[in-house]
Amino acid sequence: MKIILTTEQLAEGIDRLAAVVSRESDGKPLTVIGVLTGSIVVVADLIRRLDGPVNLNMVWASSYRGTATAAGRLELRLDLLPDLNGQDVLIVDDIFDTGRTLEALVAALRGRGAARVRSLVLLRKQGRAETALVPDFVGFDIPDVFVVGYGLDYDGQWRHLPYLAALDPAEIASHSGAQVSSHA
Ligand code: XMP
Repeated sequence: MKIILTTEQLAEGIDRLAAVVSRESDGKPLTVIGVLTGSIVVVADLIRRLDGPVNLNMVWASSYRGTATAAGRLELRLDLLPDLNGQDVLIVDDIFDTGRTLEALVAALRGRGAARVRSLVLLRKQGRAETALVPDFVGFDIPDVFVVGYGLDYDGQWRHLPYLAALDPAEIASHSGAQVSSHA
């Protein structure tokens, strides 16, 4: 594994994101909606640095299955959400790859009556976007490699790493025997 972002760099990125979101929210209540499971570490670190009232909720989204690194069919579960009528919503996700997950979530939450829906991603992969949606806040632009750590996993592993690392395609193949996709 090759370290892409150290623990210190990640902490600086979260500080920077929290400062911008706090400034733009101007002390008004913010409904933060984290996307399970990958965003759990980002959300935990981010909300503790936000100024102003925060209402925290989680949704579940998945476009990856088991040992596959290529996106599969997108599944969303929004059943834990409260009424969003009139609320200022900030969706927080770990990584923007094709952008399909965030695009679907933004559309779904707008459909639930939120006054404003903005999106924040810790990471954005270069050259992968397949949607016109541009996240409102981006922590880091990273190369098109499969990354793990700081909440991100491969086949359920490595979410707990305090840094972000690129997974070598050979490591993926030896771990699973699975085909490595073109963007892995
Ligand atoms: P899309 O393509 O919809 O994908 O933007 C977003 C979701 O895909 C997962 N993803 C990754 N997970 N390492 C991971 O652990 C990666 O390099 C990676 N790229 C995409 C992730 O769940 C994200 O929310």
